[in-house]
Amino acid sequence: MAEAIDALVPQLGLPATGVVVTGGASGIGLASARALAAVGRPVALWDINAEGVMQAAAAITRDLGVVATGLAVDLSDPQAIAPAALKTREALGSIGGIVHCAGTSPVTGIEGVTPENWDAGLALHARAIVQLVQAFREDLAANPGSAVVALSSINAHFGNAMIPIYSAAKGAVISLVRSMADELGQHGIRINALSPGMIDTPILGEARDMMEQLFARRIFLGRFGEAEEIARVVRFLLSNEASYITAEELVVDGGFLHSQRH
Ligand SMILES: NC(=O)c1ccc[n+]([C@@H]2O[C@H](COP(=O)([O-])OP(=O)(O)OC[C@H]3O[C@@H](n4cnc5c(N)ncnc54)[C@H](O)[C@@H]3O)[C@@H](O)[C@H]2O)c1
Repeated sequence: MAEAIDALVPQLGLPATGVVVTGGASGIGLASARALAAVGRPVALWDINAEGVMQAAAAITRDLGVVATGLAVDLSDPQAIAPAALKTREALGSIGGIVHCAGTSPVTGIEGVTPENWDAGLALHARAIVQLVQAFREDLAANPGSAVVALSSINAHFGNAMIPIYSAAKGAVISLVRSMADELGQHGIRINALSPGMIDTPILGEARDMMEQLFARRIFLGRFGEAEEIARVVRFLLSNEASYITAEELVVDGGFLHSQRH
């Protein structure tokens, strides 16, 4: 009985191992790093925005008193991940979590797709997940409760004419997560995809207000989400609170995907 009660003590900050957060300079990645640090987990922020990621890490250490390090990394560069992993291991010590938030959403339609932007998009959103897990596989396996969260999108399900590369890459993320979950599960490592709906971050760009006019009334909760509302779910999926969830796609969209409103 006592053991059963112990199992229900909140475990949002456990395991207490370090977490690598890509896309950590902005939006959902930044909010996720802050959410994890708020429950005491050390974080390594990776981002192509060198200045932004250093500032974000310094602010986390200052505000929350938790070890945080910032690294300039281009996640679409296959050579960049292994050296960044070495530096991260030195800075954090133990690593028991990865969140892959780095992303771009180029508007191309069909005409604008080139071999170069196609390869770059798939590399950034999908291939980087495999490379991150390869780089930290031994760390994750050594630490009980380790988990990975990969950001997909409701655009993996919608047919959006403007962003074919992004849509394909986000669909790939969901399939990849399911495939990786089998092998990783054998080492006690969980991996899940998180698909946000419309979240108010810089990725929405200049089309933000137009999209709000078009979409907000179709979302059951009647508004765009905030980065922190995704970050809290990332933190949950990385924690022992989610100890039996793997290979799943968790949609966090205020009811947009199920909506039949016009
Ligand atoms: N905001 C939304 O509505 C929404 C919806 C669904 C999915 N998502 C996904 O959530 C993730 C986070 O997006 P966000 O909304 O926080 O956007 P954001 O633009 O605020 O943050 C993305 C971050 O990724 C970084 N980045 C871009 N290319 C990179 C590269 N090659 N290497 C390393 N870092 C790179 C950027 O510098 C930026 O800091 C993305 O994968 C995005 O596709 C966002």
